[in-house]
Amino acid sequence: MVNHIPALLGETLRGLNFKKNSLVIDATADGGGHARAILDNLGPAGRLIGTDWDLGMIERLQEELKGEKRLKLFHLNFSEIEKVAGSRRPDAILFDLGLSSLQLSASGRGFSFRASEPLEMTFNAETHPNVRELLRKISERELEEIIRTYGEEPFAKRISRAIVAARRQKEIGTAKELAEIIAKVRPRLGRIHPATKTFQALRIYVNQELENLKRGLEGAWKIIKPGGRIAVISYHSLEDRIVKNFSREKGQVAKPIRPSRTEILKNPRARSAKLRIIEKK
Ligand SMILES: C[S@@+](CC[C@H](N)C(=O)[O-])C[C@H]1O[C@@H](n2cnc3c(N)ncnc32)[C@H](O)[C@@H]1O
Repeated sequence: MVNHIPALLGETLRGLNFKKNSLVIDATADGGGHARAILDNLGPAGRLIGTDWDLGMIERLQEELKGEKRLKLFHLNFSEIEKVAGSRRPDAILFDLGLSSLQLSASGRGFSFRASEPLEMTFNAETHPNVRELLRKISERELEEIIRTYGEEPFAKRISRAIVAARRQKEIGTAKELAEIIAKVRPRLGRIHPATKTFQALRIYVNQELENLKRGLEGAWKIIKPGGRIAVISYHSLEDRIVKNFSREKGQVAKPIRPSRTEILKNPRARSAKLRIIEKK
C-alpha cells in the first residue's frame, strides 16, 4: 500500500491559523495525513471533526486513532457539512480535494488505470451510477461532452467513439480494460498516461465533484465562526476556478499557494496542488 503524503502541510496549518483550543473540521480526512498534524497542533481542549465520503477510509482512521479523545469521525459527503456542526462553531475547515494515494493503490474500486479492478471510481461505494454502469448506456455524444468538459481532453471525440465501439463487443468491466481502449486511440504526450484526462473526467462526473465542492464551500461558510478560515487544496483548474470564484463572491482575493520545488521532488502528486485560504470576516 502506498502511503499518502499530505500536500502543502506547513502552508495549510499556517493558513488555517487555529489556536490550541480551537474546533477544526477536516472535511476530507482520508488516511489522516493532515488530521494527525492538526491534532499535534491542538491542545487538550482542542477538537477535530473529520469527515470523508469513503467509509473504508473513515473506518481505517478510526482504528488507527482509536485512543484519540479529541477526534470525532463521520462518514459524510462534505456537501452536507452543516450536519456535523453542533452548538460550537468551527474555527477552521480544511478541504483537500480529489483522490488520495491510498485510494489509488488500495481501494479496489478502479481509480488506477493499471489495475484490473472493477470500474467504479466512486468515493462512496454506494454511489450509482458508477463508471461501469455509466459506460453501459451513455450515448457517444454525452460521453464526449463529459470527457471534454471535465477532462479538458482534446481527443474526447476519438476516445468516446472507441469506448462505444468496444462496449458493443463486450462490457468494459475493469479500469485496465478502459485504459487500454483509450491508449489505442489517444497519443501519449509527454510522461502522462493517455487515459489520465478521461479517468479524471469520469471520476468528477460520477462523484459530482464540482457540485459537491460548491455546496461544501457554502455550507462551510454558514457554520464557520467569524474570523475563521477555510483552506482548500485543489488539484485541477475546474476545482480551482470554483474556489477562486467563491472567494471573490465573499469579497476576497485568495491568492494561490503552490508547493515548493523541494516538496514536488519528495511528493510528485503535489505538483498540481493549489491552496487558497478564505477568511470569514
Ligand atoms: C486528497 S484526499 C485527502 C487526504 C488527506 N488530507 C490526508 O492528508 O491524508 C481526498 C479525500 O477526500 C474524500 N472526498 C472526496 N469527495 C468528498 C466529498 N464530497 N465528501 C467527503 N469526502 C470526500 C476522498 O474520499 C479522499 O479520501
